[in-house]
Amino acid sequence: MIEYIDSSRLFHLHNRFLSVVLSLRPDEEGSPELLTAYIGAPLDAPEAVLALLPRWEGASFDSLRQKLPYACPTEGRGDYRPPLVCARDAEGQNCTELFYESHRIDAGKPRLEGLPASYVESSDEADTLIITLSDPLTGLKAEISYTLYRERPVLALSVRYLNRGTEALTLEAAGSACITLPGRYDLIHLHGAWAKERAVERVAPAALTRTVSSARGASGHEHNPFAVLAAPDTTEFEGECLGVILVYSGSFAITADENAYESTRLTAGLNPRCFRWNLRPGESFQAPEALCVWSPDGLNGMSQAFHSLLRERVCRGFWRDRPRPVLINNWEATYFQFNHEKIITIARAAADLGVELFVLDDGWFGRRDDDNCSLGDWVADRRKLPGGLKALAEEINALGMRFGLWFEPEMVSPDSDLYRAHPDWCLHAKDRRRTTARRQLILDLSRREVQDYIIDAVSSVLRSAPIGYVKWDMNRNFKETGTAAEGVYQGEVPHRYMLGLYRVLEEITSAFPEVLFESCSGGGGRFDAGMLHYMPQTWTSDDSDAVERLYIQYGTSLCYPTSAMGAHVSAVPNHQVARVTPMKTRGDVALGGNFGYELNLAAQTPEDMEEIRRQIRQVKAVRETTQRGVFTRLSSPFDANLAAWQFTDDRRVILCAYRILAKPNPELTRIRLRGVPEGEYTAEDGSSVSSAVLMNAGVPVPFPRGDFASCVMVFEKK
Ligand code: GLA
Repeated sequence: MIEYIDSSRLFHLHNRFLSVVLSLRPDEEGSPELLTAYIGAPLDAPEAVLALLPRWEGASFDSLRQKLPYACPTEGRGDYRPPLVCARDAEGQNCTELFYESHRIDAGKPRLEGLPASYVESSDEADTLIITLSDPLTGLKAEISYTLYRERPVLALSVRYLNRGTEALTLEAAGSACITLPGRYDLIHLHGAWAKERAVERVAPAALTRTVSSARGASGHEHNPFAVLAAPDTTEFEGECLGVILVYSGSFAITADENAYESTRLTAGLNPRCFRWNLRPGESFQAPEALCVWSPDGLNGMSQAFHSLLRERVCRGFWRDRPRPVLINNWEATYFQFNHEKIITIARAAADLGVELFVLDDGWFGRRDDDNCSLGDWVADRRKLPGGLKALAEEINALGMRFGLWFEPEMVSPDSDLYRAHPDWCLHAKDRRRTTARRQLILDLSRREVQDYIIDAVSSVLRSAPIGYVKWDMNRNFKETGTAAEGVYQGEVPHRYMLGLYRVLEEITSAFPEVLFESCSGGGGRFDAGMLHYMPQTWTSDDSDAVERLYIQYGTSLCYPTSAMGAHVSAVPNHQVARVTPMKTRGDVALGGNFGYELNLAAQTPEDMEEIRRQIRQVKAVRETTQRGVFTRLSSPFDANLAAWQFTDDRRVILCAYRILAKPNPELTRIRLRGVPEGEYTAEDGSSVSSAVLMNAGVPVPFPRGDFASCVMVFEKK
C-alpha cells in the first residue's frame, strides 16, 4: 500500500513486513527536497518519524545537508557523502539541485526498458510510486521509482534520468538507490576470486566509506553486487538487517558511508569509475534496479526473502518452476580431448545411472584442441564429431537424455575466422594494443551488427540439432574498453556493452523458450540477479571440491536461491585442490544446488557406481524441496568445523550436515532444526518424530568416521 499524506507531505509505503517513509521537506528557501525518513518495521503513525530528522544547522562546517537522508543526493550543495548522481554541464560545472516536482502512484510494476528487473504477474502484487525530482537550472530530472511488493519485505528501486533542458549534460554517476539509516552497521558482503567466490566477510562499523565494487565489465569474482547493513548484534536468526542486490551484470559499486553523525548511507548503482554518459536534450537514461530486503529475523530472514523473490520474480520462463535435470558435464572428464565415441561411452554410463541431461563443454567447434583458438567460429569440429552435433545429440536423446552445449558467445579468438573477417568487432582502444586474456578478446556488444551476429550464430547452432540446454560462458574481463563504431562516446561503451548483451540474451532466450540456459563466467564470475533474469541457473564456481564448495555455496546462499546454483560431483583427487573426499560427501554437498556430475561416469569403481545410483534416486525424490523449499543456514563453515543447512517445505524437512575434519573422541553432534511446520514426521529408519522435537531437542547427527564426513537426513511429513 502506498499513501501520500498531504498534511505532513510524506509518502508512506507499507505492508505487513515494513514501512518506508519519504518526506518532502522544504530547504532553507522553501524548495521541497526528498528525504528517506524511515525504513524498517511497520509503523502505525508515519508522521512521528519526521520529528527524528536532523534540524540543527550548527557551525559553518556542519551543514545540515551532510546530515539529512537525501533520497537522491547530488554534488555541490554541502552534502559531502557519496552522491547518487553527478551531472556535469558543458563548462565542467557539476552542481545539481533536485527538488520535488510531481508524483504518481500505480498498481503493479512497470518494466525497465532494455534492462533485467524484478516483475509482477498481476498488478495486485505490488504498488509503484514514481517521484519526479527536477533541477530548475539544467532541466535534469530524476524519476525515482519505488515498488513495494504487497506480500514480500521487498522494495525495488530504480531511477530514470532525463534531460529536459537545452544543454547537453554528462552523467558521471547515475545511481540506482540511496538509503540512509540512522546508526552504525556492520557491512556484510561476498568477496573472493576465481575458484574461491563469495566468501562471507563481515566488517565492523567504521566511520569510513566502504565500497564493494567491480570495474571488470562483469559483476566479477571479487565482489558480488550485493551487500547487507546489519545491526552489530544481528545473527543468522535474530536482529535487523537491510540487504541490497543490484539487478545488473556489469561494473557496479555499492557504498556504505558512515559519518560522524552516526548515520549510514548506502548507495548502489553503476560504478562511476567506469561510467560516463552523454545525456543530450530530450534524452533519458535508465539506471538498473536495486532490490532491498528489510529483515527483523536475522540474515536467514533476509536470505529467504531474496531467495523467493529471485526464484519467483526475477527468474523467468519455462524452467523457472520446473525441477532441474540431473546432468553430466564432460569438462573435467575430458577437457578438450574427446571425440564422438568417448562422449557416447560416458553418456551410456550416465543414462544407465539415471542422468537426464548430457552437457558437451568447451572444444566442440572450430579447431579448438586447447584454449588458443576458434572462439567465434561456432561450427562443429568434424575431426572430433564426424556426424556433427545433430548425430551426437540424437544418439544422446536415444539414450533417454537431453543434450546440452557450451558456448562462449561474447568472445573471439584472434586465431579465428571471425576475427580475420572482422578485426574491428572486438572491444579495443584506438591505437592501443589489444591485450588478450586466455588468448581471447571480447566482442564489441555495444554494436548492433555484433549483437546480430551472435544471435544468428547461436540460433543457427540451436536450430541445427536437438539441443535442450546451453551453458553460456564468459572467460575474461574488460581491459581496453572502446568501440570502433562511429560517433559513440567511448565512456558509454561499458554500459552499452551490457545493454547489447541483455538484448542478445532476451532475443535468444525468447526464441528458444524451452532450452534451459545456465550462465557461467570462469565459474561464478557473473553470478548476479541480472543474469538470472535470462538464465535461471549459474555455474557456481570452477572449484568443484566438496569442502571448498561448503564455503562457496554457504556464501552464495546469503542472497541467491539454491535453484540458481549449479553443483556437481567431481573426481578425486580434486582437480583444483587435489583433495580426496568420499563420494557420499561429494553427493551430499551437490545436493544443495542443481545437481550434476563432472567426471567420467564410465570409469568409476563398482562401489562408487552404487553410491551414484543412490544419489540420483535421492535427488529425484527430494529436488522439489531442495530447489524450491525454504533454505535455512544452521551452522557456518566460516565459524566452525561444522557446516549445516536445512530445506523445508510442506512435504518434508531435509537436514544436511558436514563435519570438515574428524576429531578424536568426538562429542555427539546435535543440531536443532528451524521453522519446521507443525506435525509428525517419519525419519528414514521409519521412526516418528515431531516438529517440536526436531526444533527444540534437536537431531543427533550420526557422522561416519573420517575427514570430510557428511550426513543428509530426510524427515517426511505424515
Ligand atoms: C570456464 C568454465 C568451465 C569450463 C571452461 C571451458 O572456465 O567455468 O566450467 O566450461 O570454461 O573452457
